[in-house]
Amino acid sequence: MNIIITGGTSGLGYRTAYILAHESKNKIILIGSNNYKGQQAVERLIYETENKNLRFIKADLSSINEIRLLAKDLNKEKIDILINNAGALFYSRNESIDQIEKTFALNHLSYFALTNLLLKHKVIKKGGKIINVASGAHRGTDIDFNDLEMSNNYNGWKCYKKSKLCNILFTKKLSELTSINNITVNCLHPGFVKTEFGKNNKGFVSLAIKFLMNVFAITVEEGAKTIIHLANSDDVKDITGKYFYKSKIKQPSQYAENKSSADQLWNKSIEMLKNKGLTL
Ligand SMILES: NC(=O)c1ccc[n+]([C@@H]2O[C@H](COP(=O)([O-])OP(=O)(O)OC[C@H]3O[C@@H](n4cnc5c(N)ncnc54)[C@H](OP(=O)(O)O)[C@@H]3O)[C@@H](O)[C@H]2O)c1
Repeated sequence: MNIIITGGTSGLGYRTAYILAHESKNKIILIGSNNYKGQQAVERLIYETENKNLRFIKADLSSINEIRLLAKDLNKEKIDILINNAGALFYSRNESIDQIEKTFALNHLSYFALTNLLLKHKVIKKGGKIINVASGAHRGTDIDFNDLEMSNNYNGWKCYKKSKLCNILFTKKLSELTSINNITVNCLHPGFVKTEFGKNNKGFVSLAIKFLMNVFAITVEEGAKTIIHLANSDDVKDITGKYFYKSKIKQPSQYAENKSSADQLWNKSIEMLKNKGLTL
């Protein structure tokens, strides 16, 4: 199978690549923003799995232009599985190069734009799979369409929670549109997993997340299991538009089931990208 994993260079994405690379016929492309880290990840995976069909492409997925260039680079590929996984928490408010709040840009718009570009160019095969790494953190919040980028009263954790709600709403809406091509779209919560998550933040926040991970988090081996289940299991081949946890379908929050929010988010995302020069 041909597989793309965004954020495949550490944490859950790396572990997923490691498991999938053990099947020697699998060809895997890892995407990340750090060139050195990406090259190292590929070298290590080839050494550990003896699968040479691995490569890294550098792209800052918070940048619309870099997503566009990445999609162009992938234009000739025929992909069986796209795993949208790259994500981060930004404790302080940052903006991307396109002047979009960075959590929204990376955690939602990158999934949205890359997937739609790959579908538009028929890079994802009929019968293929799209897997979106969401989070249980989506619970307890709704989307404020009047302030999608949290310009007022920014709170990094709340903003992250909303972005993960976006992942589920996007999954639901996209699954309706891709069913005609027999492409399934599902999302998941991996659990609270010990990864490099949070390290991009300074000082106390990074240390606090590290402490919580050391005490409460599950291993990355455990956390990646649901992603692997969605990628490999025959049990899910006809399932689409669902949210998974521990390899089982789970009910997400009521806000994640709101069709009107899914439609609004879709339209708003198209509009935002168009305003920044990307027409899907
Ligand atoms: N860890 C948890 O407890 C947990 C729980 C629920 C959901 N999740 C979700 O799991 C996903 C993976 O997170 P993780 O925990 O595995 O964290 P991680 O170890 O920090 O991995 C994040 C990955 O995303 C990439 N990335 C970050 N910013 C990027 C950018 N601007 N452009 C391209 N790639 C970028 C990183 O590569 P570079 O550093 O090279 O950019 C890295 O490969 C995220 O979507 C997160 O929301 C995690």
